[in-house]
Amino acid sequence: MLKRICLSLFSFYHFLMICPAQQKTIDQKVDSVMQLMTLEEKIGQMNQYNGDWDATGPITKDGEKQNQIKKGYVGAMLNVSGAGHTRALQEIAMQSRMKIPLLFGQDVIHGYRTIFPIPLAEAASWDMEAIQKSARIGALEAAAAGIHWTFAPMVDIARDPRWGRVMEGAGEDPFLGSLIAAARVKGFQGKGLGNTDAVMACAKHFAGYGAAVGGRDYNSVDMSLWQLHEIYLPPFKAAAAAGAATFMNAFNDLNGIPAAGNKYLQTDILKGRWDFKGFIVSDWGGVGEMINHGYAKNSEEAARLAVNAGCDMDMESRSYINHLANLVKAGKVGMQVIDESVSRILRKKFEMGLFDDPFRFSDTNREKEQWDNQANLVAAKEMAKKSIVLLKNDHLPGQSTPVLPIDRSVKKIALIGPLVKAKSENLGFWSFDWPDDENRIVSLWEGVQKKLGKGATMLYAQGCDITDTSRLGFAAAVATAMLADIVIVSVGERRDMTGEAKSRSDLHLPGVQEKLIQALQATGKPLVVMISAGRPLIFNWTAEHVPAILYTWWLGTKAGDAMADVLFGDYNPSGKLPMSFPLAEGQLPVYYNHFNTGRQAKDDNDRMYRSAYTDLSIYPAFPFGFGLSYTHFSYSDIQLSRSSIRPVDSLRASVTVTNNGKFDGKETVQLYIHDLFASVVRPVKELKGFKQVALKAGEKIRVEFMITAADLRFYNDQLQYIYEPGAFEVFIGTNSRDVLKTAFQLVE
Ligand code: NOJ
Repeated sequence: MLKRICLSLFSFYHFLMICPAQQKTIDQKVDSVMQLMTLEEKIGQMNQYNGDWDATGPITKDGEKQNQIKKGYVGAMLNVSGAGHTRALQEIAMQSRMKIPLLFGQDVIHGYRTIFPIPLAEAASWDMEAIQKSARIGALEAAAAGIHWTFAPMVDIARDPRWGRVMEGAGEDPFLGSLIAAARVKGFQGKGLGNTDAVMACAKHFAGYGAAVGGRDYNSVDMSLWQLHEIYLPPFKAAAAAGAATFMNAFNDLNGIPAAGNKYLQTDILKGRWDFKGFIVSDWGGVGEMINHGYAKNSEEAARLAVNAGCDMDMESRSYINHLANLVKAGKVGMQVIDESVSRILRKKFEMGLFDDPFRFSDTNREKEQWDNQANLVAAKEMAKKSIVLLKNDHLPGQSTPVLPIDRSVKKIALIGPLVKAKSENLGFWSFDWPDDENRIVSLWEGVQKKLGKGATMLYAQGCDITDTSRLGFAAAVATAMLADIVIVSVGERRDMTGEAKSRSDLHLPGVQEKLIQALQATGKPLVVMISAGRPLIFNWTAEHVPAILYTWWLGTKAGDAMADVLFGDYNPSGKLPMSFPLAEGQLPVYYNHFNTGRQAKDDNDRMYRSAYTDLSIYPAFPFGFGLSYTHFSYSDIQLSRSSIRPVDSLRASVTVTNNGKFDGKETVQLYIHDLFASVVRPVKELKGFKQVALKAGEKIRVEFMITAADLRFYNDQLQYIYEPGAFEVFIGTNSRDVLKTAFQLVE
């Protein structure tokens, strides 16, 4: 009898998928399937397991999971990839009574086979097309390896670089963060679910995770609803609007309610107000962790609280699989709650085409094609170049040109520092290690070597290791520097120093690296410091004394090629910081879109009874939006097309940007607005637009922005999204600090 049902289910799904005369909507198909499911099978769909795998070993280390898959008690797996592995596991799912395909999820955060720059670095490009393309390529490679679903993009606003997860997001600004969130979702999901190269996006971590107290990962978050809606939710809203198939809730509690059990966030806002049709997965073990939070007494209560709050799938805590059936039978969880979650999950499986063909992503030929896709490597290099930020480029005394770019006819060049020959460190956190990485990843050394060929002598000394406390290698490094015409110093973080659970209280360049820079600077040789890291670091001595600094983040597989292009001027750096760089940890959090206080300091000389520190500047080392070019852009003649507008009108703001340097270059022209007086205080500046313009040396253009009342909206104290008449300042400039200013009125 059971056998007969199984056989007929195959043809039943096929019938649901292919019979055009039926023209069943996905909702109808979902209903038809759900009618045949037992309560236990439904709950199985809401259960996700980790599937540690090993190239030669068993597919899941834990055989018991395989039995559960066979029984139909597992809806999704994570950390199973490869066309072969996913196929093998899917075959087990096909032995279950209902034959509902598994979903395979993976943290494809900045590439799968080809690693792109970390998301924070990509954000520095301010280039939505490139960011979308990077996600697209990650999806192409992942989908070819059997992956249906990526746990990305992380769209948490991050104002505190002590928090290790800053590397995974787009930085501190809700406007830029929203555009990037949408670009990444579109990139991952390509032309839409149902295409075999589209993976489901997952906007995470919903919500507020970036505001963890003290920058400590997994910590509590306590914020006003105003701040939640105005600063932290916009990128999530943008991700939902861009069609993100799934959301992940967060480890933190938000104002006392853990995100996994937070009904306000999941049901009222996301599924209610934003009409989100996808499903919500918990973060790893997050449902069960509500016990540790002190919110649920035991795992049964955790399951009840989470499911009733709107969390559809339990990642690895087993609270759902162990307790939901009893909770339903005891009347503590409504059957309609289960049905709602299951239908959301099944809908995505239908949209992905998995009922039609559960193996459509597990295609070894496609996997092979993507494995050495040269076009993907080219795109990774392009993205890496765009992500680099030039922080300083001074002239040396007596020289007519700045230190960078380096003249390719240089005879002797020294590359010094712990990251010069680094390979996997360039990949950063959330990246995969492949057996042939040594051949694929381009180190800085190799990048420069390719660029210079045999024409120059390249010298090397390590100087110290990343976290060394010893200066024993300094003497050799100094001696090497003395032989060279120019010295490149490559320092920063190890790839495991910034990422999940990598909060740090000391953000200075680790170990004795800055001491090494000091020793090298003392040689009097022209010095270029390149900092590779996952977060904004503190390097004040270097910023003050070294003439040239490039922030190179973690740039991925093609890091060395991109760095070499920038060093020798084949690419004119164009990156702009997506996060303020602090002067000291004591300033944190430091961000550009803060409020004015009742006692605002005018500058660092104005400290007495001001909102200031007695022992520290209130200004960051480098402000949000900052980034130099080898050329120089000047801004002049800011104009508004009118001095007042009504809510139905629009206003043109324009400025002249002139490239008055010697190189062609790309500039990101930034528009900020300040609402001078409102019913709730407003940030001193808010990014409301930007334009990227390419200017030839000597060229001048007029850059225009349109401003409407929609750009002036904010959440008032009743959480209504409104604009109010009054005076507004408009700023246009090269970063959030260096701007031209004008003003207008919004009248009724
Ligand atoms: C925990 C992380 O917080 C989350 O971002 C990630 O997607 C999951 N683990 C799965 O690896």
